[in-house]
Amino acid sequence: SNPDLQDIHDFLVSLAYKAGEIINNALPDTSGPGSKKNTADLVTEYDRAVENMISTSLKERYPDYQFHGEETYSPDSPLTDAPTFVVDPIDGTVNFVHSFPYACVSLGFAINRIPAVGVVFNPSTNTLWSAIRGQGAFRNKETPLPLKSKGNLESVEPLSGLSNALVAIEWGSDRSGPNWETKVRTFEKLGKAKEEGGAMVRSFRSLGSAALNLCAVAEGTMDVYWEGGCWEWDVCAAWVILTEAGGMMVDGNPGDGMEVGQGWETTLDGRKYLAIRGASRESQREIVK
Ligand code: IPD
Repeated sequence: SNPDLQDIHDFLVSLAYKAGEIINNALPDTSGPGSKKNTADLVTEYDRAVENMISTSLKERYPDYQFHGEETYSPDSPLTDAPTFVVDPIDGTVNFVHSFPYACVSLGFAINRIPAVGVVFNPSTNTLWSAIRGQGAFRNKETPLPLKSKGNLESVEPLSGLSNALVAIEWGSDRSGPNWETKVRTFEKLGKAKEEGGAMVRSFRSLGSAALNLCAVAEGTMDVYWEGGCWEWDVCAAWVILTEAGGMMVDGNPGDGMEVGQGWETTLDGRKYLAIRGASRESQREIVK
């Protein structure tokens, strides 16, 4: 039978609040947090505890669906087409460890590797973003996205170009090799003056969480988010929120950043992403040409 997306959404929301309690009551060890690959790639006992709580609850309630989580991922079990929960227990672990209040729990559900339900919750600010494919995106369950009552009313108009865009980027944890080179080239290209061949975006922000950057683009408080190197659990949940808010997620192209790859479309395991808010597919294509 087809998965009941509303039921899944409601259950994920309840799990997000439960996870939020663990995160809010946590006392992360700032002196010696566990590191995965280097000092920028962190995992704490709380990442593991939250993922364990979530995976146990999901397996009990939905035994037929797969589970794909950041802390239990292994390259031997890549994401498949089966209905799958795609979970990052704490997205923004570096923020969490530093008590910078932008960490969230990111709970997605994908079918055929297409995100279908997304719930993102930042327990520090008590903000929840959620969406079911085809049914719109909401902040705190009630306020439709994109937001329409911001001071900058332009923010819900089609983005007319990159020069007035507030752009989210992330350093990520890869600090060497080709992914690092791509990031540096993309940042340079986006930031540099037009007369020197850049796009000269208005400014950059880094919230320190892929999911929260995507939710900001969905709200219209940021315009674009580019990242090379994030994983499916970083993006699955917020992908639904972004696309239901009228935004799109495209291939961040390994080559030259803003020059969108030939395929344009991207997949959940694409690793390099460009998220753009609002407007039509054509106008978005114009923006990143
Ligand atoms: C990371 C954050 C970070 C992004 C990385 C992600 P984590 O997730 O979203 O902002 O730059 O690519 O892996 O490790 O905090 O769950």
